Amino acid sequence: MTTKTNLSRRTFLSASGAALSAGAVSFPNLSIAQAVTPAATTPLYGPPPGVAKLNANENPYGPSPKAIAAMTEAISQGAYYVNATAETLKALIAERHGLTKEHIILSSGSSGVLTSLAMMAAQKGSILGSDLFWDTTSRMGTRNSQHGITRTAKTEDLSVDLDAMHVAVDGSIAMVQICNPNNPTGSIVDPKELRAFCKKVSQSTMVLVDEAYNEVTDEPETNSMVPLIKAGYNVVVARTFSKIYGLAGMRVGYLIAAPDTVERISAYGTGSYGLNQAGIAAAIASYNDTSFIAYSKSKIMEAREMIAEAVAVNGLSALPSQTSFMFVNLGDISAEDFRLGMAKQNVLIRGIYQDYTHWSRVSMGKIPDVEKYIAAMPKVLDSLT
Ligand SMILES: Cc1ncc(COP(=O)(O)O)c(C=O)c1O
Repeated sequence: MTTKTNLSRRTFLSASGAALSAGAVSFPNLSIAQAVTPAATTPLYGPPPGVAKLNANENPYGPSPKAIAAMTEAISQGAYYVNATAETLKALIAERHGLTKEHIILSSGSSGVLTSLAMMAAQKGSILGSDLFWDTTSRMGTRNSQHGITRTAKTEDLSVDLDAMHVAVDGSIAMVQICNPNNPTGSIVDPKELRAFCKKVSQSTMVLVDEAYNEVTDEPETNSMVPLIKAGYNVVVARTFSKIYGLAGMRVGYLIAAPDTVERISAYGTGSYGLNQAGIAAAIASYNDTSFIAYSKSKIMEAREMIAEAVAVNGLSALPSQTSFMFVNLGDISAEDFRLGMAKQNVLIRGIYQDYTHWSRVSMGKIPDVEKYIAAMPKVLDSLT
């Protein structure tokens, strides 16, 4: 893995010739909530005008027109609890996978049910994950427990090391968690290897596969571990409407698991409590909207190609991505300094993850926002070298 470049950034800068957009509002602090766009023009929802928000892996092409129409209709029924609507969504999801509604738990984003799952696991032991994965809910779920997260190092190319994880599974581990594709690295585990791993490890320990970005991958069906649930393995799979469906703000996600596991997890406070009519309506309308999904995917791929090229032009490298974000190796530049510099250019990206101090994650936004990132990149890199 390349960690450093000898190429002069100035060379690349002069080659890029990209000008930063005139009149962009700059803000020294990093938080989107504190963006210095004057209060009078700050919108109540979404990023302030002129800000490229590339820090949360949202799909800015959503909600789809069908989802918007469904939500508009659903809000007039906001007086009613969601139980019946939730059953409709569960039935849709179950039907696709040849499962029953009893295999599905809906929650407020997948975060809701992932947290419950972590709380349940923490009653028994630790959660085993790779050194860097989307661990927010596992950290929350284990917070008040004597058990925590046990981590295994990645392979040299920053892939999840399944062999190392297998070796690390012992009596102290209550659940193995694999984020596939992984956030923040964006890489995916070979589905055959992951399937074999799940089959072996689930004999002794529950395996959670977080498939938040499954629909973004080149081969969603091949990459999914859901069929293992149907085959009776102790595997659970989390999915969300926050990513490809463009509904992050509507908070709908779900877990697929064996019915008895669903019952046990539900005791930790999931179910329809965190859901709302508009969110479920949007999810139902989006679930089989293949043209919206294909459009979003094509835009994500277009953005990925643009960023991959810009990364190379600036003498850097990035991990191959099967997701709506990329993990860029900044060589000897701190990811936090880079984030600060980019924020000053109104481009919001992620900073340092744990000890991955020189790796920077950027989400695929709309093409003009990606262009903003590309234009700002050489300028910020140059200011840091
Ligand atoms: C891998 C992964 N899983 C789960 C989530 C949780 O998302 P949500 O609660 O919106 O479904 C995220 C959010 O970024 C994620 O990256």
